[in-house]
Amino acid sequence: MHVNGTHYRTVWPGEEPGVIRIIDQRKLPFAFEIEDLRSVDEVASAIRDMHVRGAGCIGATAGYGMYLAAMEASVADDFEAVLRRRAEQLIATRPTAVNLRWAVDRQLAAMAEVEWPGEKLDVAEATARAIADEDAAACRAIGEHGLELIRKLHEAKPDGEPIHILTHCNAGWLAFVDHGSATAPIYAAHAAGIPVHVWVDETRPRNQGARLTAWELGQEGVPHTVVADNVGGHLMQRGLVDLVITGTDRTTWTGDVANKIGTYLKALAARDNEVPFYVALPSSTFDWEIEDGVAGIPIEERGGEEVSHLAGLHESGEETEVRLVPEGSRTANYAFDVTPARLVSGLITERGICKAHRDSIAVMFPECVASR
Ligand code: MRU
Repeated sequence: MHVNGTHYRTVWPGEEPGVIRIIDQRKLPFAFEIEDLRSVDEVASAIRDMHVRGAGCIGATAGYGMYLAAMEASVADDFEAVLRRRAEQLIATRPTAVNLRWAVDRQLAAMAEVEWPGEKLDVAEATARAIADEDAAACRAIGEHGLELIRKLHEAKPDGEPIHILTHCNAGWLAFVDHGSATAPIYAAHAAGIPVHVWVDETRPRNQGARLTAWELGQEGVPHTVVADNVGGHLMQRGLVDLVITGTDRTTWTGDVANKIGTYLKALAARDNEVPFYVALPSSTFDWEIEDGVAGIPIEERGGEEVSHLAGLHESGEETEVRLVPEGSRTANYAFDVTPARLVSGLITERGICKAHRDSIAVMFPECVASR
């Protein structure tokens, strides 16, 4: 994606060996700041404290984190012990997005193929780059497949009418290495000259929609409107939403979708109003082990201050935080929910669009199902 005319990925290796560069997403949309990460501890905090966030971006950052772990291990007495400890540290940072574990496991498997620390280090660097490149390529392909879906809906509308797409949270460029998952079809449609307008859910408590998705869409010149989280049902009843596209942090091989808290309610409203509800994901976001998403996907619970407080830009130009709830009121902060497969119209993947059903997913990704 372009920011002020320059193309950026969300995570990339610095020129100096052992430096990983990220965009500090906590500062957006008020400041665009690049941060250098120089150790596994710094990578782990960046993931845990949400300097980087979103399934693909977390995965790619963890992939580079494992490269830093290999650098550390290559000068330690026991390479394998350091590597294992660092892998566990990274996996523990955030529980729901499966790309994190997937990237760490992929690094461990790749390094296990070679014998010497020097070789392992080379493999870790190449694998980190491959994870990032594949993520960007998968999101680009998701955009192409999703474009056809939007094109069909547009052809069925009166001439010149825009397609209204509702999205929840940020499954955009920032949440991946490039392009995004839910936003990739939107960017592709916009580039193809199809008029699109995006309803952006603000996405309390951390406001990834209001702060990040709205900023991204603005950078790309895509018309959009930010709405409070509870507006979607009303819009759908009034015929103001043609399509919902969300991302996902983990999708089971049976099609259950974990995504940012509030997604399930949007899926229920979409079903009640016969609005197509699609979920966009690269195959790295599938969980090939868990069958029942509601019972099996771990749901991250975050600090209550994200609910009790709100951050924003003060007219002084400083970012500031204010309290919303009375002192003494308890808060609960469930970060994700699970939308059962039966409410999902389809999954937009890098290989094409399939039903959110075990059989269709197995046809699309036979080798993954076979290796379960
Ligand atoms: O807590 P976050 O911001 O890391 O949550 C992840 C998300 O951005 C969303 O759930 C997103 O829709 C799916 S991740 C591509």
